[in-house]
Amino acid sequence: MRDRGVAAGRFEDRFSLLIHQLVERGWAVTEDFVPPWIVRELFAEAHDLWRQGRFRPAGIGRGAHYRVCSEIRGDVIFWWDEDAPTPIQRIYRAEIERLRLALNEALFLSLVEFEVHYAVFPPGAFYQRHRDRFRMADERMISCILYVNPEWSDEDGGALRIYDPQGAASDILPRAGTFALLRSDTVEHEVLPPRRSRFSVTGWLRRRPREFRI
Ligand code: OGA
Ligand code: MN
Repeated sequence: MRDRGVAAGRFEDRFSLLIHQLVERGWAVTEDFVPPWIVRELFAEAHDLWRQGRFRPAGIGRGAHYRVCSEIRGDVIFWWDEDAPTPIQRIYRAEIERLRLALNEALFLSLVEFEVHYAVFPPGAFYQRHRDRFRMADERMISCILYVNPEWSDEDGGALRIYDPQGAASDILPRAGTFALLRSDTVEHEVLPPRRSRFSVTGWLRRRPREFRI
């Protein structure tokens, strides 16, 4: 009993503020979700893949409704292969796994998996105001975005703008190490155009597809 209590307590200490913010306003931000060396390695990997031309224009919608539409979003993405993680991808997934378990425990969620891609917004690209959950496929529960851009200044722009239900906006700059969590179903947000290429690791904690829910 005592051991379980200690373990649960550790969970809470590390994630309690994040989870508290998520419950109170639907989104949360922290600077120390992962240590700087992990952020640097993720940036290095994304940057290499991007230089090698491995990113593809991102689309909107799912299945038959999928289409690329740069009037809505102008980023390029590279999906991680869950079955063939690189060493740094394995490490990041392990951190997300701890968060997944903490969220399930604290909020009685049934998060079962994590889908994730690198994203690059080239200078001037943006993503119009939207929510992350699809109408038809509603598995996405929590959006998790880690920014990996070294030496990002205010003038570089590219903020994540989050709207609260009353319409007030909060801007989060995509600085290396900043980690944002949003409720995928409710929280409206947009990406403002950056002045230089803006890199992130963008993922979603998901519940089971509808047909497998009880
Ligand atoms: C998204 C998104 C936000 C960001 O990919 O759906 O909203 O700050 N990204 O990159
Ligand atoms: Mn989004």
